[in-house]
Amino acid sequence: MPHDTYVIDQMISAKSIAAKIETLATEIETEFAGTDKLVVVGLLRGSFVFIADLVRELDLPVEVDFLEASSYGDAMESSREVRIFKDLRGTIEGRDVLIVEDIIDTGHTLAHVVDFLMSKHPARLKSIALLDKPSRREVDYKPDWTGFEIPDEFVVGYGIDYAQRNRNLPYIGKVRFTDG
Ligand code: PRP
Repeated sequence: MPHDTYVIDQMISAKSIAAKIETLATEIETEFAGTDKLVVVGLLRGSFVFIADLVRELDLPVEVDFLEASSYGDAMESSREVRIFKDLRGTIEGRDVLIVEDIIDTGHTLAHVVDFLMSKHPARLKSIALLDKPSRREVDYKPDWTGFEIPDEFVVGYGIDYAQRNRNLPYIGKVRFTDG
């Protein structure tokens, strides 16, 4: 059951996130320079804010698609069993693809999604996660780009939820439980 009472302390400001996205977008543009089309794949639901800001910084021909994979449900801990709930609408065979993730924690979700998308034979497949909790990793996977490395704290905002709430905060906050 989710805790009843908690406060949220700001951890990464909206301004810092915006500055980081500008830097990351420049690196992604360099990597994919000359592409005829980059398919940017957001992992629902957590990436919806990040992908919206990231694609608007990319000066590349871009297609946006979404995939829904989930290991957490409404629980706080990963079940380690990743399921694909919603597949892509478009085809990625022979295409350049960028997977956009809000946070990499144990790594199970991203590793599974990379395997799943590789089976569709893209030309190039890269990944980006806004947040990375390296201390929690259980799978040997590192995204090609990460925004911020963070300690093992419970974070919300900028797309990330706690029991489906707080995704709409414009910054990344740290949850502090106040009911023990
Ligand atoms: C969260 C997050 C990542 C995943 C990271 O998704 O958005 O996709 O967990 O965890 P992992 O590295 O341990 O696999 P969640 O399953 O909570 O779904 P959501 O994006 O819909 O919130």
